[in-house]
Amino acid sequence: MPGLAIVGAQWGDEGKGKITDLLAERADAVVRFQGGNNAGHTIVRGGEEFKFHLIPSGILHSDTLCLIGNGVVVDPKVMTEEIEGLRRRGIDTGRLRISANAHVIMPYHLLLDQAGEAKLGELQIGTTRRGIGPCYADKSARLGIRMQDLLDEKILKQKIYAAMEPKRLTLRPFEKDPALDLQTMTEEYRTLGHRLESYIADTQRIIWDALDNERLVVFEGAQGALLDIDHGTYPFVTSSNPTAGAACVGAGVGPKDIEEVWGITKAYSTRVGSGPFASELDDDVGDRLRVAGNEFGTTTGRARRCGWLDLVGLRYAARINGLTALAITKLDVLTGIDPIRVAVRYSGPDGASFDEFPYHQSILHKAVGEYIELPGWQEDISGARRLEDLPSAARDYLDLIAANVGVPVVLVGVGPARDEVIWTQADTLVHSIAA
Ligand code: GDP
Ligand code: IMO
Ligand code: MG
Repeated sequence: MPGLAIVGAQWGDEGKGKITDLLAERADAVVRFQGGNNAGHTIVRGGEEFKFHLIPSGILHSDTLCLIGNGVVVDPKVMTEEIEGLRRRGIDTGRLRISANAHVIMPYHLLLDQAGEAKLGELQIGTTRRGIGPCYADKSARLGIRMQDLLDEKILKQKIYAAMEPKRLTLRPFEKDPALDLQTMTEEYRTLGHRLESYIADTQRIIWDALDNERLVVFEGAQGALLDIDHGTYPFVTSSNPTAGAACVGAGVGPKDIEEVWGITKAYSTRVGSGPFASELDDDVGDRLRVAGNEFGTTTGRARRCGWLDLVGLRYAARINGLTALAITKLDVLTGIDPIRVAVRYSGPDGASFDEFPYHQSILHKAVGEYIELPGWQEDISGARRLEDLPSAARDYLDLIAANVGVPVVLVGVGPARDEVIWTQADTLVHSIAA
């Protein structure tokens, strides 16, 4: 079986972790291909909650290989903590492998992320302050440290020196910080490399083997389309491409290896951090969504901004990713909200209407949703396991989304737990997973 990519179709936190966990059961391998520990993926299993930032969401399955591709930025401290945390809970991490070419988040990246945000003041992006942007910047500037560098002290020291040199001026306020001493850093990261050595591998070859043997490989995206550095709401974006094309680059496969692309979307919208959000709700309904959906960040604990579902953004995400299916999560959170509104177009600053996601920032930042209204439902839907179990208003809502976006719905989430899903009869490769 070929590759299947799972991508966020909004601003992240759509429930990618849960869907990946469901698919991992049938997959040979789950691969993270971009981002780093800015991600926070929550999985609820048998009443237990697991939160992953770096480790692929397939790790709970004892037969599934979990790979961290070359496109990911790895903080080795977070990596070792996450491995330890899983071990303490009795989860085997022996099937985890990290690409030798993945870039390493260093202490100066964390400081630069914080300093950059502080300098921007009110204009700050609201990053997770995990050093993601500065690490990707070093990668592009060819000043990055890769996982394989952690295994050779001499190379590591040279590379850290070269990476620090152009940053001296910016890092001056931290020059007395012992964590930035060249020798201390070299020794500390050499030790971390030593601890992670058995996990460092040629991950792309492992993926090729699985694909060549007709096994299912799930490419697990982090963040979401509208946080994409090229296609998102720049500069209020992350520093990687969370879109499907990046699954190829960040894992080392070709476009033909990916047969299906599933876009994960909530039944409403959320966003953490700054930036435009045309369907944002600054009222009681927004507060209600935040409480009912428990919309507080997995990584930073920040309250998420909430709003109505934005079909303009979703159609854009479908096009950019070439979505073949939609998974709509958190439909249960809309229970009791009546009427439900959905943004189908944007109104621009001069009253113009936009069917398509505006490319121009001046329009995008001032755009507000143009809505249609649908009747809501009052019934508890968390026990629904077939579409027929849903109230007709909920089914109509799903039908409207699928028709408007032009992509079939494969799965609907009606609660955080693993089994709180409805598999539709959509014709997908892994349709049998629903069984
Ligand atoms: P990710 O970053 O895309 O993996 O998503 P997060 O884990 O950051 O946020 C999604 C949150 O919603 C998690 O706490 C999940 O447990 C929860 N969740 C996922 N699907 C559903 C659903 O269908 N209903 C409800 N109520 N919660 C869900
Ligand atoms: P998952 O994988 C939601 C947001 C940050 C900020 C912007 C840039 O859980 O969906 P960064 O630290 O990446 O430089 O921050 O991107 N952001 C996320 N928002 N979910 C995520 O990941 C995110 N990862 C980054 O809040 O606005
Ligand atoms: Mg998340």
